[in-house]
Amino acid sequence: MKNYVIAALSGAALMLSSQVMAGADIEAGKTKATEVCASCHGADGNSPAPNFPKIGGQHRTYLEKALKDYKSGSRNDPIMAGMAASLSAADIENLAFYYSSLSGSLNSHK
Ligand code: HEC
Repeated sequence: MKNYVIAALSGAALMLSSQVMAGADIEAGKTKATEVCASCHGADGNSPAPNFPKIGGQHRTYLEKALKDYKSGSRNDPIMAGMAASLSAADIENLAFYYSSLSGSLNSHK
């Protein structure tokens, strides 16, 4: 009985954590990226312009941290501060999922 309760509890915990992962909406990230970010970073995040960093294929956690840092001001860039200011925590998560799902020179191992 005791084992059953433990198994049921860990099952519930697993379900919870997978729901958190499924909380990110990659399609919403794509929409936002197309509307807001593509003009500088390129449609697929692989900007051809050297003054705009490539973000397609970058690690999800890196992208999330960069955007949160711009938003909090701990990373300072006047352009990205303006961009990040209007992003919600969910936007940041969705964008990070979207860009990290793409391939680019950052993860092509060339
Ligand atoms: C007007 C042009 C412009 C737009 C639009 C823009 N960015 Fe940026 N972005 C920049 C510039 C310039 C930098 C480099 C800033 C720096 O040196 O920190 C940058 C840096 C970044 C970085 C850090 C990259 C790295 O390698 O550290 C991320 C992540 C990023 N942008 C994501 C986004 C997202 C997501 C959007 C859309 C919500 C967006 N940007 C919209 C110009 C732009």
